[in-house]
Amino acid sequence: MSAAGPVRLVVAGAIIDLENRSLLLARRRYPAEVAGLWELPGGKVEVGETPERALRRELAEELGIDVEVGGRIGPEVALRADLVLIALTARVVSGTATPTEHSAVRWVDGAGLSAMASEGELVPADAVWVSDLIEELARR
Ligand code: CDP
Repeated sequence: MSAAGPVRLVVAGAIIDLENRSLLLARRRYPAEVAGLWELPGGKVEVGETPERALRRELAEELGIDVEVGGRIGPEVALRADLVLIALTARVVSGTATPTEHSAVRWVDGAGLSAMASEGELVPADAVWVSDLIEELARR
């Protein structure tokens, strides 16, 4: 990797159920540093793909759900010199989240998310989004 090399985007879904004011989290299996911690599910944007399309593809592959993608939420996070993480809001249009790559999924409300953050149960990069996510969950 060179300092001037291409930056790849990773897109994560802030999948929100407004009726229940809850957010979908998925538990990582790997790598060891983050295994067992919870994240907003997503993955790398492929060349020629929009972030929105990448998110829909990843969530179909990883969780078997079809989502409608909304706007950006929270700041972008530099994972490495060549990898930037962003979050997009989304809502489930069809399907029930069933993990194929994660070890579990769960829906949490704002208080639950806050508690998990305090306990260090979120992957570090996603922890920066907690206040934005709680605000979004409280929005009416
Ligand atoms: O390529 P791999 O399946 O390992 O990971 P990915 O799910 O495509 O995510 C690429 C990178 O973004 C990894 O370093 C993840 O730990 C990181 N990531 C993150 O920090 N937070 C997320 N919500 C999603 C991914």
